[in-house]
Amino acid sequence: MSQTETARLAPIEMIGVQTRLNHEEEQTILRVLREAKTLATGPEGDAFEKEFAAFLGAGDAAVLSSCSGALELAAIMTGLKPGDEVIVPAHTFVATAVPFARTGARIRWADIDPDTRVMSPASVQQLVNERTKVMVPVHLYGLPCDMDALLKIAEPRGIQIVEDCAQAPGGRYKGRRVGSIGHFGCFSFHTHKNMSTLGEGGMLAVRDPQHAVLARRLRWMGNWPFEGTRDRYWVPAMGNLVPPMPGQWPLNYCLSEPQSAVGRLLLKRIDRINAQRREQAARFQAHFADYPEMVFQKVPDQCEHVYHLMSARYDGQAYGKTRNDVIAYCYEKYRLKLIVQYWPLNRSDLFRSFGFDEAHVPETDRFFDNMISFPWWSEMGDALVDDMAQRTIRGLDAMRAGG
Ligand SMILES: Cc1ncc(COP(=O)(O)O)c(C=O)c1O
Repeated sequence: MSQTETARLAPIEMIGVQTRLNHEEEQTILRVLREAKTLATGPEGDAFEKEFAAFLGAGDAAVLSSCSGALELAAIMTGLKPGDEVIVPAHTFVATAVPFARTGARIRWADIDPDTRVMSPASVQQLVNERTKVMVPVHLYGLPCDMDALLKIAEPRGIQIVEDCAQAPGGRYKGRRVGSIGHFGCFSFHTHKNMSTLGEGGMLAVRDPQHAVLARRLRWMGNWPFEGTRDRYWVPAMGNLVPPMPGQWPLNYCLSEPQSAVGRLLLKRIDRINAQRREQAARFQAHFADYPEMVFQKVPDQCEHVYHLMSARYDGQAYGKTRNDVIAYCYEKYRLKLIVQYWPLNRSDLFRSFGFDEAHVPETDRFFDNMISFPWWSEMGDALVDDMAQRTIRGLDAMRAGG
C-alpha cells in the first residue's frame, strides 16, 4: 500500500464512549433536571439500587460514584489489617488492587489462566495460607472467572470474596450473575464500560444486609436519619451523624440523580447490549479462522462473556515476529491503532514503590508481552468490524511474508 493510499484510510482507534444513550435516556436526564427535588442521591438512586439487586437476583446494592469507590468500601468492610493477606490477579486494572493495598494488608499476586486470561484457581491455591483473608477475582474483559473453583478454596478457609465486575455487568457464571456469587460485587459505570451513567458511576452489591447499611453510612460522611419520630424535627439537628464502622472515617462516594436515572434505563437494556457485543465478537473472530497465531480468550461453556474488550495474544514466533511488529505495521500501513493493556501490577512503578513487586506470574508476563487489544465499543457496525479484521489480517499476512 502506497503512502497516499494509507493517508486516505480513515483511522480506526478506540473511542472513549462505549454505549451511546438513546432518545428516551436523553429525555429522562432533562426530566430529572427539571423535576427532581434533589440532584444528589434521592429516589432515582434508591430505585436504581433496588432494581440492580433484583437484576443480580441476590442481596442488596449501594449506588456509588465509581467502582473504585465500591472496591474501597468492600476493602474496608472485609476488615483487612496489616499482617493479613489478600490475593489479587497481577493482570488487571490498577483500581482492583489499590483499595486493598491501602488497608495495610499484603497483596499476593495471582497468575492468570493462559486460556481464559482471568485469575487462575491453580495459582490461587498456591498462594493461600492461614493469613489469607480475602481474594479478588476480576471478570476481566467481561469473562467470568471460574467461581466454583475459587469458592472451593475460599469457603472452607473463611476467605471473603470480592468480585471485581467492573468489566462484566450482566455476565453470568453457571446462570448466576457475576457480582452475586461472592460476598461483595463491585461494578463500574465509567464511560469506557458496557453501560455508563454519564461518564462515572458504580455499584456495590452485597450479600449481607448489614453490609448494605454500612456501605450507605460510609458513602455519605456518616450522615444518617434519626431513628423513630421526633416531636421537634429540628432538635438536635436535621440529620444524625453516626460512626459508620468502628475505627473508620466515612467518605463521600455519592452518585447524582440524573446519573442514577440513566443507569436504571441502561440496566433494562444491558442484556441486549451484551448480546449484541457477543454477536460483534463472533463476527470479528470468525475472520481469523485461518490465523492460529491470533489466540483469542477461551470462553468456558459455563460462562457468558459480555465482551467489554476484544483482546488477543499474537504467537508470531514461527515467523520471527512479535506483537510490536504487528502493531507497528497495522498502524503505519493501515492506520489501525491497536494497543497494549494492563501493565502487570507487580511490574509497575506504583506497586514496586510500596514493596509489592514479589510475584511468580509467568502467564501474566507471557500474555502482557504478547497481547494486542483492539478498538472496541457497542454498535461498531458490521462494516467497521469487518474493515478492522481485514486491516489486521493484512498485517498478519505481512508478518508471515517477513514484512
Ligand atoms: C477491572 C477494573 N476494576 C476497577 C475499575 C475502576 O472503575 P471506576 O473507573 O468506575 O472506578 C476499572 C475501570 O476501568 C476496571 O477496569
